[in-house]
Amino acid sequence: MNTKNTSCTALQEWVDKVETLVTPTDVVWCDGSQEEWDGLAQQLVDQGTFIRLNPEKRPNSFLARSEPSDVARVEERTFICTKRPDQAGPTNQWADPIEMRDLLTGKFTGSMAGRTMYVIPFCMGPMDSPLAKIGIQITDSPYVVVNMRIMAHMGSHVLERLEKETDGTLEKKRDGHAQFIKCMHTVGAPLAEGQEDVPWPCNDDKYISHFVDTREIMSYGSGYGGNALLGKKCLALRIASNIAREHKWMAEHMLILGLHAPDGSKTYVSAAFPSACGKTNLAMLEPPKSYADKGWKTSIVGDDIAWLWPHEDGKLHAINPETGFFGVAPGTNWESNRIAMESMAENAIFTNVALTDDGDIWWEGMTKEAPAHLIDWKGNDWTPDSKTPAAHPNARFTAPASQCPTIDPDWQNPDGVPIDGIIFGGRRATTMPLVYQAYNWSHGVYIGATMGSEMTAAAAGTIGKVRRDPMAMLPFCGYNMGDYFGHWYEMRSKLTHLPRFFHVNWFRKTEEGKFMWPGFSENIRVLEWIIDRCKGNAAGHETQIGWTPDFQDFNTEGLENFTQEDFDRVMKFDTREWRSEVVSQGELFIDLYDHLPKELIFQRELLAARLVKS
Ligand code: GTP
Ligand code: SPV
Ligand code: MN
Repeated sequence: MNTKNTSCTALQEWVDKVETLVTPTDVVWCDGSQEEWDGLAQQLVDQGTFIRLNPEKRPNSFLARSEPSDVARVEERTFICTKRPDQAGPTNQWADPIEMRDLLTGKFTGSMAGRTMYVIPFCMGPMDSPLAKIGIQITDSPYVVVNMRIMAHMGSHVLERLEKETDGTLEKKRDGHAQFIKCMHTVGAPLAEGQEDVPWPCNDDKYISHFVDTREIMSYGSGYGGNALLGKKCLALRIASNIAREHKWMAEHMLILGLHAPDGSKTYVSAAFPSACGKTNLAMLEPPKSYADKGWKTSIVGDDIAWLWPHEDGKLHAINPETGFFGVAPGTNWESNRIAMESMAENAIFTNVALTDDGDIWWEGMTKEAPAHLIDWKGNDWTPDSKTPAAHPNARFTAPASQCPTIDPDWQNPDGVPIDGIIFGGRRATTMPLVYQAYNWSHGVYIGATMGSEMTAAAAGTIGKVRRDPMAMLPFCGYNMGDYFGHWYEMRSKLTHLPRFFHVNWFRKTEEGKFMWPGFSENIRVLEWIIDRCKGNAAGHETQIGWTPDFQDFNTEGLENFTQEDFDRVMKFDTREWRSEVVSQGELFIDLYDHLPKELIFQRELLAARLVKS
């Protein structure tokens, strides 16, 4: 404990204090090097957490199987700790910061016994971005360390940056009052002397707690995804949304995509879809042949999180605070997402997918026919006759964004990329047409605020139930959702060139339960209409719900067997369905009543008025 590892006194003192509390066997300051990663990966193989995949098929890649009780985010164990409950708001679980800190200090006491404590310096966002945030994650999970190295700038260079900023060698340009964000994580499974470890240590008792005032995170009991990789949802969304509100920028659950049109123009859009609703797929969209032949191309800046700010050019600019993808594996294949498949060709980590007999990976939807034999995500033999899925529905791949063939040349540009369109969307079997455009910013915020979506396996809970998921931020907004809507309205006044707003739904179904829209690469047809609308070029007509394309304004060239009838069906607006929609939106509004901006109430009135039969 007496070794001094950093000239940043505040950091050294904090790390020493945590060490005293959690009593690990040793402390390792992570340098982020390849040697360190290789060593940890081998250590994970030796202890049975990792299986090294066949190096010929999947070089330098690994499979991890979690405990079946630790497979997704745990929203009911996620807490926002603020002085007053109304600061967290009714859509979050509030906890008193003093009580929570006491409780977790108890839980963390001795929690790393028998384990190594890793200190991970990381930076969310390109280091020179004015929005970038340095965090220090303390963890007892080497699995977390190797994932963090893919997902964020991580290691000695980040620590050096922090040191230079604290000793004054470098001027700190970033906003936010903390020098660094304290992120404490333990799997909550101390080892008694001589006790053998398990492949996936975790604790049934879980706490994912956010201390908003002091910008701190304490995560206990889970080793999985957003529960444990604290730079992601905890820092880059829940804590960052608070910083963003204070400093007049936005932290959103959005992909960022560039569209290159045949005329040489490039338009960036961002899109907020709830978890496992197609952000990665859209961000990695590969144009179908009829589009590619004409010169259409896409590029990706990010697939999950966007930080947006009013740039001095008057537009909203966006950066992706992450450096990797933590994407949903099932359903991903060479047809639905070739770009993802290439991004994970090597140096990737797979969690809760199935293992093939030749040492590679498989999941539902990867190939038309399942292999004759697999080891499933629980480590059991699996054949196509098995009654349970081979991969967990929330199985994920961790892959470096730098390996993505369509990564945008500006993805690490501290200046970000200018956003011309903001797209909202959910998973809706009924009601919502393929695409419609908001009349203006105020209406666009209403559309985002009232978004609904069927729940997915990304969070533990009821799958398939439609719930309100405003701007796809329900599990991620770190303060009162009503105030968050107010912040969106306030942002409008900071911009001179406003992005346009759209709502899309790839998931509308026929009565027989089939998707009405082919989706995936064909979504470029919707994007074409969207970017043309952003430029003021495309036609459209005004309806009760917003602007929509007519069949003749919508490019169906090369789309086989898609008739005007099919188009009308997927675009159909049904007054009856929309009336129930407005009624159901009302529940959220009542919950948020005392913090709800008036604009939203007016927008709802206007929509109701437009739905009245003449
Ligand atoms: P998180 O990483 O959880 O935030 O989610 P994400 O929004 O990035 O999810 P992702 O792109 O991985 O969503 C995957 C799911 O969406 C899979 O079930 C896909 O089959 C489905 N999906 C994506 N695009 C389409 C589409 O155009 N049509 C249909 N029908 N399904 C789609
Ligand atoms: C999500 O659930 O929205 C994710 C996965 O992106 S996790 O990082 O586990 O939250
Ligand atoms: Mn997400």
